[in-house]
Amino acid sequence: MAASDAREPLPQFPRDFLWGVSTSAHQIEGAVDERGPSVWDAFTAVSGRVKDGTTAAVACDHYHRYREDVALVGELGAGAYRFSVSWPRVLPGGSGEVNTAGLDFYDRLVDELCAAGVSPVPTLFHWDTPLALDGEGERESGGGWLRRDTAERFAEYAAVVAGRIGDRAKKWITLNEPAEHTLLGHALGQHAPGKQLMFDALPVAHHQLLAHGLAVRALRAAGVTDIGIANSHGPTWPASASPEDVQAADFYDVLLNRLFADPLILGRYPDFIGQLLSATTGDVEADLKVITEPIDWYGINFYQPTKVGAPLPAAAGPTEFSGLTLPPELPFSVREIEGRAVTDFGWPVVPESLTELLTGFRDRYGDRLPPLVITENGCSYEGLDDQRRIDYLDGHVRAVHQALAEGVDVRGYFVWSLMDNFEWAEGYRQRFGLVHVDYETLERTPKASYAWLREALRAQRA
Ligand code: BGC
Repeated sequence: MAASDAREPLPQFPRDFLWGVSTSAHQIEGAVDERGPSVWDAFTAVSGRVKDGTTAAVACDHYHRYREDVALVGELGAGAYRFSVSWPRVLPGGSGEVNTAGLDFYDRLVDELCAAGVSPVPTLFHWDTPLALDGEGERESGGGWLRRDTAERFAEYAAVVAGRIGDRAKKWITLNEPAEHTLLGHALGQHAPGKQLMFDALPVAHHQLLAHGLAVRALRAAGVTDIGIANSHGPTWPASASPEDVQAADFYDVLLNRLFADPLILGRYPDFIGQLLSATTGDVEADLKVITEPIDWYGINFYQPTKVGAPLPAAAGPTEFSGLTLPPELPFSVREIEGRAVTDFGWPVVPESLTELLTGFRDRYGDRLPPLVITENGCSYEGLDDQRRIDYLDGHVRAVHQALAEGVDVRGYFVWSLMDNFEWAEGYRQRFGLVHVDYETLERTPKASYAWLREALRAQRA
């Protein structure tokens, strides 16, 4: 008997708890010639940046095969499908002229989802900034998210998309993981647009937050009433009780958790961030009024906790973490969490740390905290008979239930991801899908985890 068969059925969640699956445009759509270029196209064109040398030019070819993919979501019994809209598909130049065919695609996708009884949950930005706005190589003059203007363009884009699908898509997400886009894309340069600005990347965080607030206003003006944001978060554990390790862990916690959550929820930046930003980025106080535009819920993408210690001696050289190479000059170092199973990506599997994260948010933000939704959770494993993914999901869903039992207001849970896809700098090497994709034939094959989730969702509805 497989381990999952021996397990207790999942506990019952509230009737209106929202179960969903997530994807993003650049990772699945392909059809690169049928949209404007994004920073990811430019980034992946440079050899050596994606570990297996691939690009997302075809990816899962979802742009042409979306009907098959929506059918998979419908058969799964998911109540919601979170996808992202590609900004350069809708506005190839970043602003101005609309690509009607691109907007038509999202219109058809939304119709198809509604017909399958699945609620469409669009995310407006999942890292694929139109290249036209980035001004490649403008490190000094500052293109893309280094420019405040990009936030204004984003709000215009939000209005265009809401004007077309806002009648049927009720639940919206402005941005996906501005933390990763800032840190990986602009500070360390290991994601597009490949800028290595270290702490000079901070305005990128601020401008994304400003874009979020302006987009909330634009969405509300278009009649949208259910709006959130998807941020990545995880508990940060000091490597020891030494003051140096605790200080380093606090610093990491600010970067990953508080840099985005504090301004959104409390209307202020953590102290030293606020000081750094005010010195470089205009009237931060006025912008914070836009950034705290009320949202209806707060999305959390969760994968793993992080153990953090004081910087290691420079002689130790760069360290590897989550597929990233961390330079020794950072004011912290990431340490191994021992005694835990790891995914194919090397990420430790610690389900109970999701309960810790959720109760920690409640404790930190109290009454100011909006209802929470887990907008991503999942793992990378090879194989169709993916018992380890079943174990991962089972453990994390129970951890969410435990948080509910401890009084945290969690309203939904989305698995990352519906199907295997282009995993950014890893290329196609990491498979996060409930559905396997053969990248030669583009054939989709549901994995054991898909069948497990379908049964689990059926039991929730019974
Ligand atoms: C991102 C996804 C990504 C996943 C797994 C999240 O950070 O939103 O795009 O595929 O993690 O790495």
